[in-house]
Amino acid sequence: MQMAMIGLGRMGGNMVERLMRNGHQTVVYDRSADVVAKYQKLGATPAHDLAEVVTKLKTPRVVWIMVPAGAPVDDTIQALVPSLTKGDIIIDGGNSNFHDTMRRAASLAKQGIEFVDSGTSGGIWGLENGYCLMVGGSDRAVKQCEPIFRALAPEDGYAHVGPSGAGHYVKMVHNGIEYALLQGYAEGYEILHASKDFPRLDLRQIAEVWQHGSVVRSWLNELAVRAFSRDVSLSDLKGYVADSGEGRWTVQEAIDSDTPAPVITLSLIMRFRSRQSDTFAGKVIAALRNEFGGHAVTKS
Ligand SMILES: NC(=O)c1ccc[n+]([C@@H]2O[C@H](COP(=O)([O-])OP(=O)(O)OC[C@H]3O[C@@H](n4cnc5c(N)ncnc54)[C@H](OP(=O)(O)O)[C@@H]3O)[C@@H](O)[C@H]2O)c1
Repeated sequence: MQMAMIGLGRMGGNMVERLMRNGHQTVVYDRSADVVAKYQKLGATPAHDLAEVVTKLKTPRVVWIMVPAGAPVDDTIQALVPSLTKGDIIIDGGNSNFHDTMRRAASLAKQGIEFVDSGTSGGIWGLENGYCLMVGGSDRAVKQCEPIFRALAPEDGYAHVGPSGAGHYVKMVHNGIEYALLQGYAEGYEILHASKDFPRLDLRQIAEVWQHGSVVRSWLNELAVRAFSRDVSLSDLKGYVADSGEGRWTVQEAIDSDTPAPVITLSLIMRFRSRQSDTFAGKVIAALRNEFGGHAVTKS
């Protein structure tokens, strides 16, 4: 079928490629004309602005947005809406907050425009392996877009999980779990790395053996094998870990629903800690221990 992709970054670009490989026609738009030209060469129809995206689509139109969460999504929707007509469908495949998605769906519904949210997982590997899609929206809109979802997902890797917002809700929790898994692997490998009794443990070898029959084998651990194969000491990296919102939204949701989620919560907090080279809190503890017990301090 025909659809448009807006935002041809690491995700949107690869998704266009996978859709075209599966016989779908794509109209593509990105703020960068060079990126649009790249996908034009691969067979996509270029658009130079959002109004042109709409003119190049047959009705009912399907427009997939793959830009960062927040204002970029609102701005894109606002620019599209005047040209769209009743029955058209906008899909937000990024990591938007589900509250925003519910608000956008309600507002677009007043104009007869369907809003579908597709929580999308698979990263840069999705081009070859397919993307796991957690989809929210009306039965009618989701059914209509199903050929796109089936092309993007691997077998059994797409599910319609509920009404508008449900897809992003499920993806939010998915990413919260991802935080905890990453933290668990990180702590395990750090303990191995710091071992006093066994200072020469080969982390690449250990990661590799865990991939064969172990209960902790996983795709994330497979990626640890790859990373350690390149440089087992990860010496060219800083241990600085960013976050793009889903972890903190998951923790907020846990708080709002009185759900104890200590591991995900602490995984988020460890990301904050990773961005500090020293902490004021640490200085306070050192100062107070020195005050009450004369304990030694390390000067900065
Ligand atoms: N990377 C992942 O593993 C992954 C996995 C699942 C979901 N996601 C989600 O997918 C979405 C896209 O991620 P990505 O990794 O593809 O990001 P990306 O590589 O940074 O690409 C983002 C795209 O959005 C465009 N963009 C940025 N700000 C914009 C704005 N204000 N208005 C219009 N377009 C704008 C960028 O254009 P410019 O090039 O001009 O900046 C680029 O085309 C995000 O919501 C992300 O959280 C990412």
